[in-house]
Amino acid sequence: MAWNATIPARILRVNHGGESGAILIYRAQIVVSKWRAPDLTPFLREALSHELTHQMRFGALMPARQAKPCRMMWIWTVGGGILGLASALLGREAILACTEAVERTVHKHLDEQIAWATTHDPGLATVIRDIQFEELEHLDFAIRERRRAGFLWLDKLIATATDGLIWISTRGDSARLAIQLAGPKQPFGG
Ligand SMILES: [Fe+2]
Ligand SMILES: [Fe+2]
Repeated sequence: MAWNATIPARILRVNHGGESGAILIYRAQIVVSKWRAPDLTPFLREALSHELTHQMRFGALMPARQAKPCRMMWIWTVGGGILGLASALLGREAILACTEAVERTVHKHLDEQIAWATTHDPGLATVIRDIQFEELEHLDFAIRERRRAGFLWLDKLIATATDGLIWISTRGDSARLAIQLAGPKQPFGG
């Protein structure tokens, strides 16, 4: 199989894993938000319902592209749960900082994937674009609702943790994939 032919399968494996992480983050935050930030619970519930649909939609594309769910799905259960729980315990602003950091990181990955899939796998590109639209709603909500620019350290920590979780769960494949999706670099910046 040509190397390029494996890219849709690898995109789907990364995304399916990432959605599983998002599901765990939102689930944990919903439990704690009822006590720490009840005004955010309706948003968190809606975001969770979106993430469940995203996971299902990516999952539905997997068999035709010979993609298997990532073998280290448990990393998401543990990592996503800890991330969601810890941020929610810190309160409303930390929940929003977490949403913003996670969704911004996801958005960056989806942008790279759409750029590649538009010419190589239009069916996959359409689904990613649809999903990206809802991820942007989550990101916009978090940006809009944050009352102060606090928790910058948490923002950075979570963005790094999200990238790290994606990297670990795919055993580094997410980073190799990002390089491939960006295409060959011209030497001397030409
Ligand atoms: Fe999602
Ligand atoms: Fe999202």
